[in-house]
Amino acid sequence: MASVHLFLFGLLLFTAEAMVAMEDEELHGLFQVMGALLEDSDWVHEHPQPCTDTPWPGVKCEVSDDDDPQVFHVTEIHIGPDIVSPPPCKSSAYLSGSLLKLPYLKTISIFNCFVASPIILPATLFGSLSSLEHLALQSNPSLSGELPSSLGQVPRLRVLSLSQNSLQGQIPAQIGGLGCLEQLDLSYNNFSGQIPKEIGDLKRMAILDLSGNEIEGNLPYSVGQLNDLQKIDLHSNRLTGEVPSVLGKLKRLVLLDLSHNFLSGPVSETLSNLEVLEYLVLDGNPIKARIPLFIGNLKKLKSVSFSGCGLIGPIPNCFSTLKNLTALFLDNNSLSGPVPPNLGSLLNLDQLNLSHNNLSGVIELSDDFIGKLGERLDISGNSELCTSHHQPNKENLSPYLEIPACLSSKPRNGKSLAGESPEDPAEIKPTQYISSTSSNLSSSWLDLQVVLFTLITNFVICSLFFLL
Ligand SMILES: *[C@@H]1O[C@H](CO)[C@@H](O)[C@H](O)[C@H]1NC(C)=O
Ligand SMILES: *[C@@H]1O[C@H](CO)[C@@H](O)[C@H](O)[C@H]1NC(C)=O
Ligand SMILES: *[C@@H]1O[C@H](CO)[C@@H](O)[C@H](O)[C@H]1NC(C)=O
Ligand SMILES: *[C@@H]1O[C@H](CO)[C@@H](O)[C@H](O)[C@H]1NC(C)=O
Ligand SMILES: *[C@@H]1O[C@H](CO)[C@@H](O)[C@H](O)[C@H]1NC(C)=O
Repeated sequence: MASVHLFLFGLLLFTAEAMVAMEDEELHGLFQVMGALLEDSDWVHEHPQPCTDTPWPGVKCEVSDDDDPQVFHVTEIHIGPDIVSPPPCKSSAYLSGSLLKLPYLKTISIFNCFVASPIILPATLFGSLSSLEHLALQSNPSLSGELPSSLGQVPRLRVLSLSQNSLQGQIPAQIGGLGCLEQLDLSYNNFSGQIPKEIGDLKRMAILDLSGNEIEGNLPYSVGQLNDLQKIDLHSNRLTGEVPSVLGKLKRLVLLDLSHNFLSGPVSETLSNLEVLEYLVLDGNPIKARIPLFIGNLKKLKSVSFSGCGLIGPIPNCFSTLKNLTALFLDNNSLSGPVPPNLGSLLNLDQLNLSHNNLSGVIELSDDFIGKLGERLDISGNSELCTSHHQPNKENLSPYLEIPACLSSKPRNGKSLAGESPEDPAEIKPTQYISSTSSNLSSSWLDLQVVLFTLITNFVICSLFFLL
């Protein structure tokens, strides 16, 4: 009895599959598209029914419920090294106009395929793919030319990723027509001009990445309308003006990377609204101001980078409130004053670079802290800094902690040298310790021991002389 049921069930399945097929127009369109891309000229013969009997991993199909009888439609074309390796594209690969015969396409993703002969994005591509939700053409060095203005006519597009190609020209204002867009990634191309103000129309955008281009000018004020934005990465462009205060409106921002632009300071107080910010990256901008104190209120911060920003003034104590901070980069600035000892109380801090500033005073970071960070601690290049450690455990020391011992502090045997010596410690400090850039750590320590020995000997001799 059961076997009869199984048999019937199998028969039903079989007939159901046989009923659904593809429309000829769409099938031929797919063959033309694949023929324009793939090296393998037998592809068509090996995959005569790519939606059913002879599937290929890069092509996906779905049955449309609207059609009667039901038919398969191509909904995804994906080409990249993960499907066939080596990458299966021919050197003359191009985007066939027959893509328009595949009106049910939801996803086109082509990676590392256009590498030899230059191709452009056909303007007609965008106007007609009304189902397209996801367009990713990445790492195609011969994909060049400008973005067509028809780009805005893909009503359902959610993801547009064109990173690491050779695209150029301005970002067209028509991009504002992509009302469903959630992710825009144009990174690492050669886009120039300003960001169009129409970007503010992309109300659902969560990720905006325009890094590694030649984009210039100010950020348009309309960016403040992007209430869902979580990540904005504009690093390595030519942006000018002050660090945009409008960014303070983006309450959901988790990552803000404006590094390597020409942005000036001060960093606007409005950024104190970014309560969920975790990554603040402003390296390589001529900010030339003090470190803003409100940073201490951004409690979710994990990483703060201000390397090479011409920062002045002290390192504020406010960093100690950032309990989740794992990385702090303040190197290559003109910061002065002491290293706040409470940095050592940040249990999650794992990278600290304060090198090449004008910091001074005694470093009061614990051995545990110094040992834990190891080579990820760099305080070198601060000529006025010194350490109170006289017998350091060299194993624990960062090679970047090339700073002299403070001669004013207590030696092992208890008595303070500075208290009894008439000489100014700064003057007796040997010049080789003022220049902290010495790369030979062990010889520095050896020299230091010699100097200490000499000092102590002098002290003893002086005392003896005094007694006599
Ligand atoms: C980038 O575009 C500029 C013009 O905007 C051009 O001068 C430059 O050669 C381009 N660079 C590359 C690598 O294509
Ligand atoms: C710090 O990180 C932990 C673990 O990721 C998280 O649970 C906590 O909420 C964070 N603290 C703050 C102040 O965001
Ligand atoms: C230090 O910062 C300046 C910009 O302020 C930059 O030109 C230079 O390359 C940086 N140096 C290092 C070693 O990063
Ligand atoms: C700290 O920053 C300087 C540049 O300012 C860089 O040369 C050095 O490698 C960094 N140190 C570490 C440990 O990464
Ligand atoms: C470094 O700080 C000292 C005072 O501690 C100051 O005299 C000197 O001008 C500063 N140097 C730079 C380059 O800012």
